[in-house]
Amino acid sequence: MSAQREFIQEQNDLRDDYKIRKRTSPIVNVWRSRSTRGILFLFCFSIVVPVLVYYFLIDNVTTSDELYDTCAVDETYRVPCGKPENTTIDKCNKIHCCFDNTTKRCFHYLPSKYYYFSDSENQDYGSSLVQSPFFEAQLKTVYLSINPTSDKSVQIMLHDNSTTGTITCTNTTEYNCTINSNPLFVEFYRPNSRELLLTTAKGPMIISDHYWEWSFQLTDEYLFGLGQTLIDLSGKSTLTKVIYGNDKDHNTLPNFLAYKNGKYHGLIVRHSGPLEITVFASKLVSLKSLSGKKITLELSVGPTIQEVINQFNDNKAANLIVTPDIFGVHVCREGSSLILKDILEDFKKEQNLDFRYTSDCLHENLFLAAINEKSDSSVTSEMRDLIGDKIIKSSHRFSLSILPQVPYDSDLYTNTADLNIYFKLNQTDYKGQYFKNDVVYPYFNHASVDTFIQKLLEAAKQRFDPHLPTDFVLSRNWPSDQSFVMKEIDKFKYLSKELTEAMSSTLPWNASSDDELQFLEHNNYGYFHVEKIGPALGDGAFIMTASHTFDNFQPIINQNVDISWTNFHNTIVTILSNSLFGHPLTSIPVCGSTSTFTSSHESLCIRWYLMASTAPIFRISSDEPRRDPTSLASLTSKYAASQAKSAIDFRYSLMYYFNTVLGNNEPLMRPMFYDFPDDNNTFALVDQYMVGSDLLVVHPTLPDQTQVTIYLPPGDKWFEFWGGDSYDYNLGKDGWISLTVSETDWIGFVREGSIIPIILNTDENVKQVRLKIALCDNENCEAKGMLITGDEQSFNFTSTQSELAVTNQNGNDSFVLHEIEIFRPHSTCLIKLNADLKLVEDPTVNYHNQSNSSC
Ligand SMILES: *[C@@H]1O[C@H](CO)[C@@H](O)[C@H](O)[C@H]1NC(C)=O
Ligand SMILES: *[C@@H]1O[C@H](CO)[C@@H](O)[C@H](O)[C@H]1NC(C)=O
Ligand SMILES: *[C@@H]1O[C@H](CO)[C@@H](O)[C@H](O)[C@H]1NC(C)=O
Ligand SMILES: *[C@@H]1O[C@H](CO)[C@@H](O)[C@H](O)[C@H]1NC(C)=O
Ligand SMILES: *[C@@H]1O[C@H](CO)[C@@H](O)[C@H](O)[C@H]1NC(C)=O
Ligand SMILES: *[C@@H]1O[C@H](CO)[C@@H](O)[C@H](O)[C@H]1NC(C)=O
Ligand SMILES: *[C@@H]1O[C@H](CO)[C@@H](O)[C@H](O)[C@H]1NC(C)=O
Ligand SMILES: *[C@@H]1O[C@H](CO)[C@@H](O)[C@H](O)[C@H]1NC(C)=O
Ligand SMILES: *[C@@H]1O[C@H](CO)[C@@H](O)[C@H](O)[C@H]1NC(C)=O
Ligand SMILES: *[C@@H]1O[C@H](CO)[C@@H](O)[C@H](O)[C@H]1NC(C)=O
Ligand SMILES: *[C@@H]1O[C@H](CO)[C@@H](O)[C@H](O)[C@H]1NC(C)=O
Repeated sequence: MSAQREFIQEQNDLRDDYKIRKRTSPIVNVWRSRSTRGILFLFCFSIVVPVLVYYFLIDNVTTSDELYDTCAVDETYRVPCGKPENTTIDKCNKIHCCFDNTTKRCFHYLPSKYYYFSDSENQDYGSSLVQSPFFEAQLKTVYLSINPTSDKSVQIMLHDNSTTGTITCTNTTEYNCTINSNPLFVEFYRPNSRELLLTTAKGPMIISDHYWEWSFQLTDEYLFGLGQTLIDLSGKSTLTKVIYGNDKDHNTLPNFLAYKNGKYHGLIVRHSGPLEITVFASKLVSLKSLSGKKITLELSVGPTIQEVINQFNDNKAANLIVTPDIFGVHVCREGSSLILKDILEDFKKEQNLDFRYTSDCLHENLFLAAINEKSDSSVTSEMRDLIGDKIIKSSHRFSLSILPQVPYDSDLYTNTADLNIYFKLNQTDYKGQYFKNDVVYPYFNHASVDTFIQKLLEAAKQRFDPHLPTDFVLSRNWPSDQSFVMKEIDKFKYLSKELTEAMSSTLPWNASSDDELQFLEHNNYGYFHVEKIGPALGDGAFIMTASHTFDNFQPIINQNVDISWTNFHNTIVTILSNSLFGHPLTSIPVCGSTSTFTSSHESLCIRWYLMASTAPIFRISSDEPRRDPTSLASLTSKYAASQAKSAIDFRYSLMYYFNTVLGNNEPLMRPMFYDFPDDNNTFALVDQYMVGSDLLVVHPTLPDQTQVTIYLPPGDKWFEFWGGDSYDYNLGKDGWISLTVSETDWIGFVREGSIIPIILNTDENVKQVRLKIALCDNENCEAKGMLITGDEQSFNFTSTQSELAVTNQNGNDSFVLHEIEIFRPHSTCLIKLNADLKLVEDPTVNYHNQSNSSC
């Protein structure tokens, strides 16, 4: 029924288009009369590119010369034109666009009247129209560059006239390149079919001083990315995001993955200024920029997801090196005080943490507060003592949060002001606000920033030695300015609500350094922070960053997260999405980080702990009320606290499984389609995902949810993690099974044929391992698993129906086999070894003659 109604609706929409097309014929006439101001070139559509034809919806009465500039554009391909509000047909005609009388919206022709072209062999392109739809002059000349970066990836760059272009549009074994010069667009195909990889032909190209618009399409089928997993839009709906780091959104990257006919390809958009990205239901992607000298697209052709990720990562300078400590629990505290004495008082008052954790930062503002103090004051020395007594002595790692901003009243500022590295507004160093403190902002790509960093490190050493750590969190480095609110200004003719919001709570767009306005490089602020401070912190430094670009490889923390079920769901989406785009280590604060937490969030907070137990990074860091297990005991209940502690213990027991997955260069927490790339039932899944290739994890993401439905892809059997009950595709309805869950259930399934190492004890020296072995039904099938320890040791496990074999590489006595748990399709059993077996001795264990065994 409803499908039919939708169909009728679609038909009506279509009919509207036909009407519109007729009504717009005056525009077409104006266009042809050569009398309209602003039109430079009129011959543009006489050279017609047949490729374009199939994009259009054309009715039977269309004459051939109307074919190539039509308003009969499918709803899902309509790119808005001009200011969205208060449009009339007259205003719309004036800016050479189509008007939809039903919706009162103005949209671009297809192809758009706004394009660039060249009628010679030159690689510079002129604009079709003098003015943009916002009545700004368009750049007369722009350039395009195409640089193949490998057989499987290519960079396409649109830039202004400050540099000329070089076009290398060659065919490789993996893609064919075509470039059309009038109008200008590029298209890439897979070489042996006409399968499209990328086209820039379907939207306008507008390039003026403060407004650029360009668009591309990767596929008309499945599109993933832009901070989401599957982007699933219908009809008129669109997805819009602004890429411009601020409090609310500092880690969405403009990256995409596309799927069609069994193959994946991907694209990274590089742009350092404010960029608004809209995805239409057709999967057409529109880019709008307020700034810039260039927009770069980087296409990778796959054809598998793994290859796309590798091709993306190939261009990074360095890679992540994981150690098991990364997977421990990291504790930090946030708040508004920058007064060292107060921060220390609060810390002293706090109950000792009574759960297992790996690192403690004491307080996010500790560094800024310490910088505000003299290095020889009694408070500073009390700080050193506290770090020593309460963090180091109990064998925890001290991790220091460093914010980019510098307190205006500090010695550090006085000593570095003359370096000229701080952002200026109106000729003086710009003062922003961080919790009511005046702060100034260094520009980390400034020529003299190394001197600043040396002074910063000196100040740190004076205050923290001998406890200056090797772990650092570069916090709030989008960077945060709590005083700035963006307003509409004349200069930006296009400033959507989304852009206005994104350009607030961070440095004013017009603050400048070296006479360059900061908003032009805004999206690289965190990147330069990491790149410049990182090496100065020493070779062994472990760094997490709150804001990054695609080129960083360091783990990422998201900040300013309100606790809510929606944000819990979004947290999963964000981590899964980052895993696909080269950032497998993303952390979202457990139970949120802002002060909105109350005891009513208890059951959500327990669920968040359960989810975090198998997430890439486990970080508990929030404003008050704190939500570590110790604080939860008094804030919510002892019950919640004990659930949270169990989740943490569970995490520590799986730490080496995590280390093994990442050590094998695979993302840890990843969407189902990463492992089942050709099963489109998995594409939209978020509540269930894979942790490594062997664990399928499920979480309810709605309040009071007592049932979860789980999709099990055809093929393998899946064993419920705790009890070993087996499930598979055939057991459910088309693969879907339904389970009843309680708020404290961690639901996971082990894939048949796998072996998962679990650490049973907390002993730092000798670790007792339990192997969870999921055997298949088939006599000949072997289960396999691995354990990578992070100190160069690795162990391989192979199990037949009757026997386990271990082989080691660089192993030593530090890991021993204690227990073996065996899952079979119709039975489970446990073998407790009489004596621990050293894994370094490559033991074999026969399942049939063990005395302490239920097998
Ligand atoms: C739309 O136009 C009306 C009348 O011309 C005006 O009152 C209203 O403020 C305008 N709305 C916007 C959003 O510009
Ligand atoms: C647009 O629609 C209005 C009614 O909503 C109608 O009065 C008007 O004549 C239409 N304009 C054109 C150009 O068809
Ligand atoms: C680039 O374009 C601008 C404005 O269109 C013009 O003023 C400038 O001279 C051009 N520069 C070069 C190198 O052509
Ligand atoms: C590259 O492929 C395109 C079609 O995809 C074709 O038009 C073009 O001629 C090819 N170029 C070369 C040099 O073979
Ligand atoms: C791709 O280019 C090659 C030559 O480089 C050509 O033989 C082949 O036909 C092209 N494929 C398509 C689909 O145009
Ligand atoms: C810039 O500073 C001057 C004096 O220092 C002041 O008169 C002027 O109002 C300031 N302009 C802005 C836009 O703040
Ligand atoms: C910077 O831009 C803001 C608007 O966002 C404006 O109010 C302010 O005067 C500008 N400052 C200078 C020095 O241009
Ligand atoms: C999966 O693809 C098939 C055919 O390609 C299609 O019929 C089906 O609707 C798709 N399912 C989903 C969930 O997209
Ligand atoms: C473990 O298996 C992997 C491949 O699965 C292999 O590369 C590695 O060399 C093996 N290590 C040992 C110690 O056998
Ligand atoms: C095992 O080897 C690692 C280095 O590979 C070393 O750090 C550790 O102390 C050793 N453990 C034992 C028990 O020998
Ligand atoms: C267990 O069985 C295996 C092979 O069947 C045999 O080699 C081994 O000696 C037996 N071990 C014990 C303790 O009986």
